[in-house]
Amino acid sequence: MGKKLIILLIGLSFFNLKAQDQWKAPQDAKLLQNPLNDEAPVLDKGEKIFKSLCASCHGVDGTGDPVMVKTMNPPPADLTSKHVQQQTDGEIYWKITEGNGLMASYKSILSEEERWAVVKYIRKLAKGQHVEKPKHPVEKSGEVEAFSFSQLINAKTTHIRQTDGFSLGFGIQHRFGATKFNNDMLKNFFGLDLASNIRFNFEFPVTKKLMFEVGRTRYGKFYDLGGKYLLTKQTGKMPVSIAVYENIAVTTENPPQYSEDATFSDGRKFEYKFMHRLYYDTQLIISRKFCDRFSGEIAAELVWRNLTPATPDDEKAYVIAVPLSFRFKTGLKSAIDLEIMPNTHKNTMPISLAYEIASSGNHVFQITITNSDRLLAQNLFFNPTVKYFKDGFMLGFNLIRYF
Ligand code: HEC
Repeated sequence: MGKKLIILLIGLSFFNLKAQDQWKAPQDAKLLQNPLNDEAPVLDKGEKIFKSLCASCHGVDGTGDPVMVKTMNPPPADLTSKHVQQQTDGEIYWKITEGNGLMASYKSILSEEERWAVVKYIRKLAKGQHVEKPKHPVEKSGEVEAFSFSQLINAKTTHIRQTDGFSLGFGIQHRFGATKFNNDMLKNFFGLDLASNIRFNFEFPVTKKLMFEVGRTRYGKFYDLGGKYLLTKQTGKMPVSIAVYENIAVTTENPPQYSEDATFSDGRKFEYKFMHRLYYDTQLIISRKFCDRFSGEIAAELVWRNLTPATPDDEKAYVIAVPLSFRFKTGLKSAIDLEIMPNTHKNTMPISLAYEIASSGNHVFQITITNSDRLLAQNLFFNPTVKYFKDGFMLGFNLIRYF
C-alpha cells in the first residue's frame, strides 16, 4: 500500500515537473533566419493572421487572452514577454510550426512565409505598436493629404495647414532670367545674373478648412490677397479633396501712358481708374493621392483682368486654364513635381518641373526649371512663355516654411 503511494507520488511529481519544464526549440531552429523585412506589407499580413488565428488565445495585444490564461494549463504564453522576445525569430517560428499541446501546429495551416510574417508581427506587438497600423493613403475614415503644402510649383493645392493653435506660413518664390543652351548660359550663370522675379507670401490658416494669404510680387508690383476653402477632403470613402480658391491682386505699377484722345474699344473716353489695377484668379481644385508615392491634381481656373491692353495679340480680358499637377515622391524627404497648365492664351503654356529636397512636415525647398518667370496666376497666364528648346529655360526656387 505504502509502496503504491510512493510510486504514485513519484509519478505525480514527475508529471508535474514535466508540465513545468519549459518548451524549448532545438538548437538548429535558433539559427533559422527570417527571410522577411519589417515593412508595412509584411506586418500587415502578420497582423491579419495573428488577429484571425492567434488572438483568441494570445489576446489581441499578445499578452494572453484573460479567460484562456485562467482556463488553460499551461496558459497561452505572453508573446510580448521577455521570455518569448529573447528567443530568436527561428525559435519562435519553430514553435509556431511544431506546436505543443494546446498550442496547435501551424505547419499545414500557414505557409512558411505566413509563419515568418507572424513572427515579425509578434516582434512589433512587443514594441507596443500593435494598435497603430502604418497609415495607408486610402485607409478607412482616415483623412488623406495629397499635397503637404498649399502650393506646388506655381499651382495652388487643396492643402490647408491643420493647426490647433496659431500657425503661420511664409513662402518665397524666385525665378531667374531665361537662359539658352549656349555660351551665354555660363556667361550669365544659368540666368542667375539676369533680372529675376520674386514673390513673398504669408499664409494664415484660420480653421481646418479655411486659409488666407497675402503676397507681393516684383513683376507687376502686385499685392495680392487670397483665400482658400476646403469643400471636402479625401478619405477612405471620398476619392478626392476639393477646394475653392480666390485671389485678388492689385498692381501698384505706374498707370500706362496714354494720349488725351485714347478711348476704350467701345468708343468711350479712356480714363485710368483704380479698378483697372485689379486682377482676379478663381479656381476649383481637385486633388487625389493615388498611393504613398504619387499624388495628382486638376483645377479649373479663370483669370480675369479689368484692363485689357489693345494689342492684337492678347486682346481678351480673361484666360481659362486647366492646370495639371503631379508629385512623385522619390524618397522620404524628396520628390519630383511636374506642372502643365493648358489654357486659352495662344502664346502661353506654363510647364514646370521641380525637385524637392529636404522637405519635412514644416518646410519645403524646391529647385525648379520652368518656362515662365511670372509667379502670380494673374500675370503668369497673360504673358507668353518661352519655348524650352528654342528660347531656353528659367531656373528658380521655392521655399515654404510653416511656423
Ligand atoms: C487554442 C489556443 C491557442 C492558439 C489559437 C494559439 N496558441 Fe500559441 N500557445 C498556446 C498555448 C497554450 C501555449 C503554451 C504552450 C506550451 O508552453 O506548452 C502557446 C505557446 C505559443 C508560443 C511559444 C511561447 C514560448 O513560450 O516560447 C508561441 C510563439 C505561440 N504560441 C504563437 C502562436 C501563434 C503565432 C498563434 C497563431 C498562429 C498561436 N500561438 C495560436 C495557445 C494557443
